[in-house]
Amino acid sequence: TDLSLIRNFSIIAHIDHGKSTLADRLIQITGGLSERELKEQVLDNMDIERERGITIKAQTVRLDYTAKDGKTYELNLMDTPGHVDFAYEVSRSLAACEGALLVVDAAQGVEAQTLANVYQSIEHDHEIVPVINKIDLPAADPDKVKLEIEEVIGLDASEAVLTSAKSGIGIEDVLEAIVTKIPPPSGSRDKPLKAMLVDSWYDPYLGVVILVRVLDGALKKGDQIRFMQGGTQHLVDRVGCMRPKIEQLSEIGPGEIGFITAQIKEVEQARVGDTITTVKNGATEALPGYREPQPVVFCGLFPVDAADFEKLRESIGKLRLNDASFSYEMETSAALGFGFRCGFLGLLHLEIIQERLTREYDLDLITTAPSVVYRIQLGHTKTEDAQEILLHNPADYPDPSRIESIEEPWIKATIYTPDEYLGSILKLCQDRRGIQTDLTYVGGRAQVSYELPLNEVVFDFYDRLKSISRGYASFDYEQIGLREGDLVKMSILVNGDPVDALSMIVHRSVAEDRGRHMCERLKELIPRHLFKIPIQAAIGGKVIARETISALRKDVTAKCYGGDITRKKKLLEKQKKGKAKMREYGNVSIPQEAFIAALRMG
Ligand code: GTP
Repeated sequence: TDLSLIRNFSIIAHIDHGKSTLADRLIQITGGLSERELKEQVLDNMDIERERGITIKAQTVRLDYTAKDGKTYELNLMDTPGHVDFAYEVSRSLAACEGALLVVDAAQGVEAQTLANVYQSIEHDHEIVPVINKIDLPAADPDKVKLEIEEVIGLDASEAVLTSAKSGIGIEDVLEAIVTKIPPPSGSRDKPLKAMLVDSWYDPYLGVVILVRVLDGALKKGDQIRFMQGGTQHLVDRVGCMRPKIEQLSEIGPGEIGFITAQIKEVEQARVGDTITTVKNGATEALPGYREPQPVVFCGLFPVDAADFEKLRESIGKLRLNDASFSYEMETSAALGFGFRCGFLGLLHLEIIQERLTREYDLDLITTAPSVVYRIQLGHTKTEDAQEILLHNPADYPDPSRIESIEEPWIKATIYTPDEYLGSILKLCQDRRGIQTDLTYVGGRAQVSYELPLNEVVFDFYDRLKSISRGYASFDYEQIGLREGDLVKMSILVNGDPVDALSMIVHRSVAEDRGRHMCERLKELIPRHLFKIPIQAAIGGKVIARETISALRKDVTAKCYGGDITRKKKLLEKQKKGKAKMREYGNVSIPQEAFIAALRMG
């Protein structure tokens, strides 16, 4: 295809502003599909998903559009992952495009997540076309949103396209804007092949499918290719694009986006951002910007029922087939038995995996407190040299007397909120050791930036933010590196025994607070036993907080006066059932909810 007839673009939008609906409309109008056909097609896809038990990841599609200038253009709509933990993946998708549609809800206006993505898009020198969607809503105020786009983002919004993706208004205008505003790609067919690996996913029939953007040269079936970062070689056996159904092509030429398969068994071998070239007469220099996947948040996943361990192992293995960005290794906990220590790109990534294990694989799981990675400098001893370790699990906390320094990861958070909630949000950030770096007002909204230790954010920061702002505040973050901190390990002792799954690394300044809180929570969560149970929080040997659960006096069945035997039976059964969900700790039973609930800051 003539380069001047190609347009590569992505859609930037905050969740729920209408990205998928707009994409569907673009597919419908360019494919000449009726509403019913579109529905059938989408349903088709869902059936496949259900049948295969996986989600078809990329919604990247190729559209043919005959514009008002009479020429037919090839439009490649690049799907980008929707959330902040996948910032790197998003950056690679954006690097594969020359422009973006910025979709903003006409009633909601600009949100934090939109901002972060727009700035990334600007960094990639994209031409950005503002689209104000949902103009059919009674609360729509396109003029106000235009002003917001200009003031907050600094983009000219005078020619913003007004749409209602739902009712099909303005869709042609979007297509015309793509053709006239977004520049065509550049590239040369005569240079050695250079293609970027934009995304990869596992398909049970096709094996690993790779989404590519060709910069120079062309990719053809039968090519012997080489991954310049991964170092492996493969034979290309299929070349195509999605419309959104799979269509086989003879080649993917310079400037084009498409997919290939090359008999690859694991997504791990096809890493996002890698450079693909030919084995013979290949390119000598890889594309800039490649990064290895790096988990930043870790937690333990344990089956509630120990008999489910094998099922958990299998399920995690299956998920991992499609997502090379999380890591796992076996872990044993005195409290929770056999499970896995897993690493994730961020909190939301953790939630997605946890949710999929629970829902798709029907597993009951106990998740231990999420932990970040600490870098610890250890001094030398008589028998050991000084060394540096990376701590993923509080249970592996080294002998404190050997620790010379501990560093923890920090993030820069951007929060965007109606200003009535600002006060409570500032307090939340302050309580979490935050350092305010910026605060600006636009209209009735505030945008505030904080530097925060990731360890203060991993557990419930996001939930708290949502609840104090009644869902109106939006949040986005990026990592800004490690900083030294006065961090200690806090252990929780139940009836004198440390419960490993409840131990955590905390800053010394908040340790007492957290310890007291945990003990109070556990006191509510652990049922009374026939004996007194002390609950203690301790740093090293020093107890910093303590609660006591008093002993239970009477047998519950005593209430039944020995009379009604069926009632008595029922009660005993109920007790037994309750017990199944408990974890035995020495001679104390701890209910499963306690492990998570105790960690919520409240
Ligand atoms: P995520 O997939 O969650 O990121 O959301 P999205 O941005 O893809 O939004 P989606 O297209 O799923 O739309 C969110 C909701 O807004 C859906 O209920 C749509 O029906 C609705 N919606 C989308 N476009 C319009 C529109 O133009 N007008 C109205 N009234 N509703 C719309």
